[in-house]
Amino acid sequence: MRDSSITIILPQVAIADSIIESPAGRIIVPGHHLPEKRVNIDAALAQQLLTAARATAANAHAPYSNFHVGAAVVMADDPERRIITGANVENGSYGATICAERSALAAASSLGFRALRYLALSTADSLTSPLCDRSPCGICRQTIREFIARSSDASEALILVDTAEPGTLCEAFDIDRLLPYGFNFAPPGIDRSYERVLTS
Ligand code: THU
Repeated sequence: MRDSSITIILPQVAIADSIIESPAGRIIVPGHHLPEKRVNIDAALAQQLLTAARATAANAHAPYSNFHVGAAVVMADDPERRIITGANVENGSYGATICAERSALAAASSLGFRALRYLALSTADSLTSPLCDRSPCGICRQTIREFIARSSDASEALILVDTAEPGTLCEAFDIDRLLPYGFNFAPPGIDRSYERVLTS
């Protein structure tokens, strides 16, 4: 079989803190500091995940928003590395709605897996919208973060966002770039070394 392994280069982030002295005390506007990171992924698997996410959006229960979303995950602690999918499931109370990403992670978690390796997301019928209309909501970013934190290969985890941009497979992120300063209830093993690097 053709080896379709590719290296995704996640760019360095170097945003300095801004520190303002006020009469009431110092106000810190935290910057963001991440070294460049390279993550390998099989391009064929990435394509399969995106295809699965897009197909799963057809199963969305979205009678209120009519916004169909699908997600597909591969779990690092699944020896079979199967593709597990989920769609958004809405509810008339609105607040009980579950997004596609959490639906897929709930399915994976219900199978006993806790460590996310890859998540692909497709907003299916709005693939030409700006990235902010196609990328995970805040609650999902926080949930994704916790499942990645439980992986011994956390730095290898990727989030792929489907697009209809001609000639483009997806946009790719790691969780530190997708959710800077996400809440951390200190699960053991999470790498916090890049946080709060104060510029002198
Ligand atoms: N939705 C998702 O499934 N994932 C997201 O990250 C954003 C929003 C769903 C929830 C709701 O059913 C619909 O999209 C409109 O917000």
